[in-house]
Amino acid sequence: HAAVAALPGSAHPGRPLVVDLCCGCGALGLAVARRAAVDLHAADADPVATVCAAENLAGVGTVHTGDLFAALPTGLRGRVDVLVANTPYVPSGAIGSMPPEARDHEPRTALDGGRDGLDPARRVAAGAGEWLAPGGALLIETGTAQAPVLAEVFGGHGLVAHIGHDQDRDATWVEGRAAP
Ligand SMILES: C[S@@+](CC[C@H](N)C(=O)[O-])C[C@H]1O[C@@H](n2cnc3c(N)ncnc32)[C@H](O)[C@@H]1O
Repeated sequence: HAAVAALPGSAHPGRPLVVDLCCGCGALGLAVARRAAVDLHAADADPVATVCAAENLAGVGTVHTGDLFAALPTGLRGRVDVLVANTPYVPSGAIGSMPPEARDHEPRTALDGGRDGLDPARRVAAGAGEWLAPGGALLIETGTAQAPVLAEVFGGHGLVAHIGHDQDRDATWVEGRAAP
């Protein structure tokens, strides 16, 4: 919902360009494409995930495999209106105390966010400026306690950040806007 809300005012009002990084099975991008006419690209480092995403996004978007931005066609640089990322955000030391259904059935690469859980999100925030269109938005899901730290990271990369929270879904994210 937050990604769809970020679409108006984008540099490509007719058909905004949306990228779902760390897309897993493609759920986030699909949710956006169901609600708005967008040009969708999704990417993940895990080839098992991208096979699944390609099935889920058939006829809806294009799926790429590779490390964060390196997976994307270079022609998207400077053109992305909304960049969403559900990066892994569990601190390495907390994975052992997760519920078994997550710990035992998710690959570690889908969970492990490094020491404070924000390493992949930091990399996305650092790279986003190169890929966002003027006025483009970056949205990264995060833990509630991590959000203020990530908002500062966004600010450090020139993004005007605010924290969003959806009580019904118990979801928190940081949204940042590039300069228009
Ligand atoms: C929390 S899961 C996202 C799940 C996704 N939202 C879904 O609905 O399936 C994090 C994802 O990040 C991917 N990932 C981890 N490190 C990555 C990297 N360096 N580059 C791209 N994807 C990465 C994992 O493979 C995993 O699919």
